[in-house]
Amino acid sequence: MHKSNSTIHIRKIMAKGGFVLAILALVAVHSLAGDPSPVQDFCVADLNSEIFVNGLPCKNPKLATPDDFFFSGLDKPGNTNNKVGSNVTLVNVARLPGLNTFGISIARLDYAPYGLNPPHTHPRGTEVLTVIEGTLLVGFISSSPNNKLFLKTLHPGDVFTFPVGLIHFQFNAGDSPAVAIAGLSSQNPGLIVIADALFDSNPPIPDDVLEKALQVDKEIIEALKAQYKV
Ligand SMILES: *[C@@H]1O[C@H](CO)[C@@H](O)[C@H](O)[C@H]1NC(C)=O
Repeated sequence: MHKSNSTIHIRKIMAKGGFVLAILALVAVHSLAGDPSPVQDFCVADLNSEIFVNGLPCKNPKLATPDDFFFSGLDKPGNTNNKVGSNVTLVNVARLPGLNTFGISIARLDYAPYGLNPPHTHPRGTEVLTVIEGTLLVGFISSSPNNKLFLKTLHPGDVFTFPVGLIHFQFNAGDSPAVAIAGLSSQNPGLIVIADALFDSNPPIPDDVLEKALQVDKEIIEALKAQYKV
C-alpha cells in the first residue's frame, strides 16, 4: 500500500520531467521505510556474534529450530511496584532471535491503578496498542511548532496508534489494574524516556543547559535530578 502509493507519486513526478526530483523521491521513500526488508525467509539472530552490522548476523539457517521463533511469558504481568506504577515487557530481537530482519516486535504493558507509562519515544518504531483490560488515557504530541496533543480514552478492545519518533504516554485512569498489548514496527524500536534523558543522563546535562531550556531556577533542576539519586 505504502510502496504502491509512492510508486504512483514518483511516476507523476517523472511525467513532469523532473527526473532528478524522482531520484530524490526514491531516496526519500527508501529512507522513510522502517527496518530493511528481509531478502531470505528468515535470519535468526546470532546473539553471540562479534560482527557488528545493521541488525544482527544470521545463524546458519540449517540450524534454525522452532524455538528460535518462539517466546513464552506474555501471560505474566510485569511488576508495577515502581515509582511510575507501570511495567513494559518488550519482546524484541534480543528476546526472540527469530524477529531479526522482520521489522516488528511486541510488548505487554501493565499499569497499576493510576499508573503511568511516562512520556517517551521509540526512535525506530511506530506503535499500535490495544487495551485488554482497564481504562487508559493515551496521547501523543505532534512535532514543533504545533505540538498538538492527540488525546483519547481507551477501553478494552480499543486500538490506538503512536507515530514513529513522537512523544507519547499511557495513563491508567481507573482504580483497577490495566493491561495492553502493543506491536512496534521494528525488531529493536528503541526507547527514550523524556524525563530520564533530561535528568538522569550519564554524565549529567549541565544545570546551566537545563535552566535555560526549561526557564527555571537551579534549585528546581537540582530537585528534579535528585529524585533519581534515591
Ligand atoms: C518489570 O517486571 C519484571 C518482571 O516482574 C521485573 O523483573 C522488572 O524489574 C520490572 N521493571 C520495573 C521497571 O519495575
